[in-house]
Amino acid sequence: MHKVEFENVTLYNADCRDVLPLMSEVDAVISDPPYGMAWDGKVTRGKNGTGKTGPTKHHGKTILHDNEPFDPAPWVNFDRVILWGSNHFGCRLPVGTTLVWLKRYDEGFGSFLSDAEVAWMKGGHGVYCKRDVSLQGESKERVHPTQKPISLMSWCLDLAKVPQKATVLDPYMGSGTTGIACIRTGRKFIGVEKDPEYFATACKRIEQELSQPVLVL
Ligand SMILES: C[S@@+](CC[C@H](N)C(=O)[O-])C[C@H]1O[C@@H](n2cnc3c(N)ncnc32)[C@H](O)[C@@H]1O
Repeated sequence: MHKVEFENVTLYNADCRDVLPLMSEVDAVISDPPYGMAWDGKVTRGKNGTGKTGPTKHHGKTILHDNEPFDPAPWVNFDRVILWGSNHFGCRLPVGTTLVWLKRYDEGFGSFLSDAEVAWMKGGHGVYCKRDVSLQGESKERVHPTQKPISLMSWCLDLAKVPQKATVLDPYMGSGTTGIACIRTGRKFIGVEKDPEYFATACKRIEQELSQPVLVL
């Protein structure tokens, strides 16, 4: 296990199930885990503002543990929880609120690519949507094959009513998007990533974010 600390941010290069016993001070779990869909590393993007798809690229690697069913059990007992990809493991979750990320413009709907992604939020039973098309097409912002937009993760923090200065855990942080959302909105962050390459990407993004002038929204 490797640990890197910044002001209000702690990052672990580890298997999250191994560091779970250290997580006693966590107020919310906001995460985008491996979905258990055995993704083959191929990425096909939609073309901005069209119903068409772009070329397919092979990303060169798969997502760790994506070839096994995801078990949400270790995370659902925290007070506030949001887990993306819940359509893949909903049978192992209690009833809750559904969040929908509309990732395409209306004109892009109906190709064989997904128009949206779905998350489960602990408690309630409503359905809430956010449109963010910033990662459509070949975006310069993209540093992880299943990256989420920063604004989407900030929306999650507000929907889950995570107080300012509370501590948010993302046990599957990938490139650290949830961490950047926490920094921008005045929450503390603990991130865990097992893949050393994505861990290094997360450290770099978070270091860059912390070097920006502070603007807490
Ligand atoms: C769906 S991706 C998250 C991407 C993230 N939302 C982003 O914006 O970059 C899930 C991540 O969990 C990591 N992972 C899978 N199993 C893990 C485990 N047991 N412990 C820690 N990280 C794990 C994978 O390497 C992958 O980067």
